[in-house]
Amino acid sequence: MKVPDFDFVVLGSGIAGLTFALQAAALGRVLVLCKVNFSETNTAYAQGGIAAVLDPTDSFEQHVQDTLEAGAGLCDEAAVRQLVQEAPAAIRWLQGMAVGFDENESGEMALGLEGGHSHHRIVHVKDHTGRSIQQALEEAVRRHPNISVQEHQMGIELLTDTSNTGTFCYGVQVLDLHTQEVRSIRAQAVVLATGGSGQVYQYTTNPGIATGDGLAMAARAGAEIQNMEFFQFHPTALYQPNGEVFLISEALRGAGAELVLPDGSRFMHLYHPLGSLAPRDIVARAVLTEMQRHHSPCLYLDVRHLPAGKVRENFPSIYHKCTTIGIDVEKQLIPIVPAAHYQCGGVKTDLQGRTSIERLYAIGEVACTGVHGANRLASNSLLEGVVFAHSAAEHVAGLLQEQLETVPDLATEKNCVGVLWPGMRAEIARNRAKLQELLWEQAGIVRSVKGLTSCQSKIDALQRKVKGIAYMTGIQQEVQELQNLLTVADLITKAALARRESVGGHFVMETAHEGQQSRYKSILVDAPESGI
Ligand code: FAD
Ligand code: SIN
Repeated sequence: MKVPDFDFVVLGSGIAGLTFALQAAALGRVLVLCKVNFSETNTAYAQGGIAAVLDPTDSFEQHVQDTLEAGAGLCDEAAVRQLVQEAPAAIRWLQGMAVGFDENESGEMALGLEGGHSHHRIVHVKDHTGRSIQQALEEAVRRHPNISVQEHQMGIELLTDTSNTGTFCYGVQVLDLHTQEVRSIRAQAVVLATGGSGQVYQYTTNPGIATGDGLAMAARAGAEIQNMEFFQFHPTALYQPNGEVFLISEALRGAGAELVLPDGSRFMHLYHPLGSLAPRDIVARAVLTEMQRHHSPCLYLDVRHLPAGKVRENFPSIYHKCTTIGIDVEKQLIPIVPAAHYQCGGVKTDLQGRTSIERLYAIGEVACTGVHGANRLASNSLLEGVVFAHSAAEHVAGLLQEQLETVPDLATEKNCVGVLWPGMRAEIARNRAKLQELLWEQAGIVRSVKGLTSCQSKIDALQRKVKGIAYMTGIQQEVQELQNLLTVADLITKAALARRESVGGHFVMETAHEGQQSRYKSILVDAPESGI
C-alpha cells in the first residue's frame, strides 16, 4: 500500500480542468497534467463565445428551451436547467479571473448571436474568446501555491481497484513524453478533463491533442459511456485545398453572414425557417447536400453586404486568416466545408461530475452530463466546462472527509519497452489516416446501416492489427493514441448501429423520411476499399 501523492490529479488544462483546479486548490493539493504544453487545448481555439442570459429581455426559460430544441428532445432537462441558471455566475467568475469580455458603447456586456439561439446571449472576446480564457486561467493557476502543473505527461491508464462496495479509482498511469518512462500517480480523486475526440475524423476543427484519451481510458476501466452516436459537425470550416482546417465562427453568421451557393444565391431558407442560423446539425447536412448537388468542393459564406470594416474589427482572427490566404472578405466569398467539431456524448456523469466509478470524475467535453442531447447548442460547451467543474469541486470537498490513508500498489512501474523505428512510425500514421477516412465516410454527417456495418468490421480488423503493433513497440504515444482513437471509433459505430432512428447529429438514411432519403442519397460514399 502507498500514501496518495496528491489530493486531486486532473488530466487536462482546458477550461474544465483549470476551473476545477482553481476551485479544488482551496481544499487540497492539485496536480494538473497535460499531454502537450499547458496552452494546447480545444479551449484555446474557441472563437464564438459563451452563452448566458444577461439581457433583461432574455430569460432562463428561453435559453433552456433553445438548448432542449437543439438537443432534439434527448437532453437531460435537470442538467440543462443547472447549466442555464448557473451561467451568469460562471461569467462573473471568469471576469473575476480577469477575462475581459467585450462591452458595448454603454459599457454593458456585448452579446452576440449564434445558431439555434432565440436571443442575443453570447459573451465573447472578439473571435478569440477561448484564447483569452485560456490565458487568464493559466495565469491564475501558475500563481496558485497549491497547484502543480506538469506538461508533456500523457495519462495512459486509470488505476482502479474493485472491492465488495464496487470499483474505485485511486490514480493514473502516466507516460512521461520527455523521458519515455511510465509512472503511477496516486490521489484521493482523479478528474478527467481531457476534452474531445475530433481527431477520429479526417476533417476536424479540433487540434491534434483531441484523440479521446480520457474517454478511452474510462471505457477500458469499465465506466459507463453514453450518446457516442452524436458527433457534431460544424458547417463552416474554411475550405483550403491542402486540407488544413480553420474554423469560421458561427458568430459571423450571427452578425449577418449568409451561406450561399457557388452562384452566390442563398439557400438555407429551403431547409429551416432560421436560415443560416438553424441548429448546427441541420446546417451541416444542408451544406453537404448542396455541395453534392452542385458538384462543388465547397460552398461559401457571404459577408460582402456587411458594413465596411465590420469583419476586420469584430472578427480579427478570421479576417487575418482569410487575408493570409488571399481572400478579401469585403469583395470575395469565403469558401467553407463542414468538419467534425464536438463530441456530444462521453463518460456518463451525474450533475456533480461523478462517473460510474467511485472517485473518478469527468468534466468538460469528455463528459456526458446530458446537457447536449443529440446536438449541442452553440456556445454551451465552454459554459458546461465552468459550471460542472464548479459542482465537481463542491462534491470533492465531501470526499476529503473520507480520506484514503493508503491506496493499492498494484501498478507495474515499467520503462517503455521497444523502439519506434521510422518504418513503424509511418505504418502507425498510415493506419491513423485510414481510420480517420473510414469514420468520415461511413460514420459521418449522413450514415447508412450498410456503411456503419462495414465500418464496424473494418474497425475490428484494424484493432487486431494495431494490437499486434503495440505488442512490438511497447507503450508509445503514437500507438496509445491510435488505440484510443480506435476505441472512440468503436464506441461511435456501435452506438450509431444501436440507434435506429435519425435524430439530431445522428442521421441514418434508412430511417429518414422519404423526402430526406432522396435528398441525401447522393451524399453516401461507398466504403473505402483500403487494405485494412
Ligand atoms: P480541452 O480544452 O480540449 O483540454 C483538454 C486537455 O486535456 C488538454 O490540456 C490536453 O493536453 C489534455 N489531455 C488530453 N489527453 C490527455 C492525456 N492522455 N493525458 C494528459 N492530458 C491529456 N465551445 C463553446 O462553447 N464556444 C465556442 O466558441 C467554441 N468554439 C470552438 C472552436 C473550435 C475551433 C473548437 C475546436 C472548439 C470550440 N468549442 C466552443 C468547443 C470547446 O472549445 C470545447 O468543447 C472545450 O474547450 C473543451 O474544454 P475541455 O476543458 O473539456 O478540454
Ligand atoms: C463557433 O464559434 O462557431 C463555435 C461555437 C461553438 O462550438 O459553440
